[in-house]
Amino acid sequence: MRNITVFGAGYIGLVTGACLAELGHTVVVRDIQAARVAALRRGEVPIYEPGLAELMEANAGRLSFALDAREALEHAEVAFVCVDTPPTPSGDADLSRVWSVIEDLKNAPRLTAVVMKSTVPVGTGDQVRAALDAAGLDHVGYASNPEFTAEGRAIGDFMNPDRIVIGASDPTTAHLIADLHKGIAGPVETMSVASAEMVKLASNALLATKITFINEIAAVCEATGADVEEVAAAIGMDHRLGPHFLKAGLGYGGSCFPKDSRALRAMASNSGLPFQLLTTVIDVNDLQPRRAIARLKEELGGLRGRRIALLGLTFKAGTDDMREAPSAIIASRLVSEGATLTGWDPMARLRDEAPWNRLERAETVIEAVTGCDAAMIVTEWPMLKEVDWASAASAMKTPFLFDGRNLLAPPLLQKHGFTYMSVGRAT
Ligand code: UGA
Repeated sequence: MRNITVFGAGYIGLVTGACLAELGHTVVVRDIQAARVAALRRGEVPIYEPGLAELMEANAGRLSFALDAREALEHAEVAFVCVDTPPTPSGDADLSRVWSVIEDLKNAPRLTAVVMKSTVPVGTGDQVRAALDAAGLDHVGYASNPEFTAEGRAIGDFMNPDRIVIGASDPTTAHLIADLHKGIAGPVETMSVASAEMVKLASNALLATKITFINEIAAVCEATGADVEEVAAAIGMDHRLGPHFLKAGLGYGGSCFPKDSRALRAMASNSGLPFQLLTTVIDVNDLQPRRAIARLKEELGGLRGRRIALLGLTFKAGTDDMREAPSAIIASRLVSEGATLTGWDPMARLRDEAPWNRLERAETVIEAVTGCDAAMIVTEWPMLKEVDWASAASAMKTPFLFDGRNLLAPPLLQKHGFTYMSVGRAT
């Protein structure tokens, strides 16, 4: 078992830290935000991720938190970099937090390896290697070990991965990192550092492409009378295509797909390559929520003065994360069109800024839809299936529902008198 320091107490850092502690390692998670470290030391978990608080509590004896980098690195044999790499205005990833961690590593007396979990452009590993060498840390190994955990199921994804990708600078480091994962049942794929960096970006881009493809098919279904749910179910039965990420909706959001697809496109452009397919995916995804609002506007005969309820605001169900949520584009567009907004979400943490400061938040779905001209399901929260839609219909000014995630069965809503719209379904 090893002494590990994880840099970054965000989603990835906390999940990685808790899971490594669960595997038996002694882990210090270091963050630069004093309030966050203090909260973690009090046993508070600053993010919502199912099972994370329990896992951290169960491993409290092997998991500690630090603000001071020197203190965090005192015993560290392996350092995991799990800091965020937000987009810059050019679409390239901002690596300043990564570089500041690399700077901190110069104060690590027992370090044998650095593991990059942050999503970085291909070639970053070479640059880090050179920086470590220049700092006299040529004995420290380097590995890219991208994560493929999805929010809401991150612990299961970490503990039961489809694969563990390790791109290492040398075989000893590859072996060391593989060894850290002992106890996890998943095939280990070792490769070059650059390939591992690319696997992460390419995987997310292909998943984003798959979603976009089915969204485009949905639009064609709408125009031609086919039903995208029936189509996707049958497409997914082909083992070469698989059933996942074929859910048509309002477009992908979150902290990864939008950022990573732009980063991959920027990286390709920097080499003079246009990556037209990915450019189209990014454009179509931007269009998807706007198209939904255009359809709603047409159906309602205008949006000015309309009261609209948004049901679900987070970028997907099972998380409190609002990063790049399609709901933000939808809410902004509706406000620009002159609509007034109510909203319901069981977990979303809304900032006091546009467009959210223009939305009246309700405690229940019924409260949100009361007096509304229309409601729109934006996030596929399962509890929306349990709503008493008959009561919702009578509470609304006009029973009109745009199911942006194809969550409900059209006949059920129609039975309650709803005018029902969805994405790519013949209703
Ligand atoms: C995604 C990947 O799934 C993870 O493998 C990856 O590790 C992670 O990004 C990352 O790079 O850190 P995540 O962003 O948590 O995970 O969420 P997903 O479940 O992949 O959903 C992303 C977006 O796509 C959501 O807005 C979701 O609503 C949308 N989506 C997903 C669809 O519209 N249709 C689908 O069929 C699937």
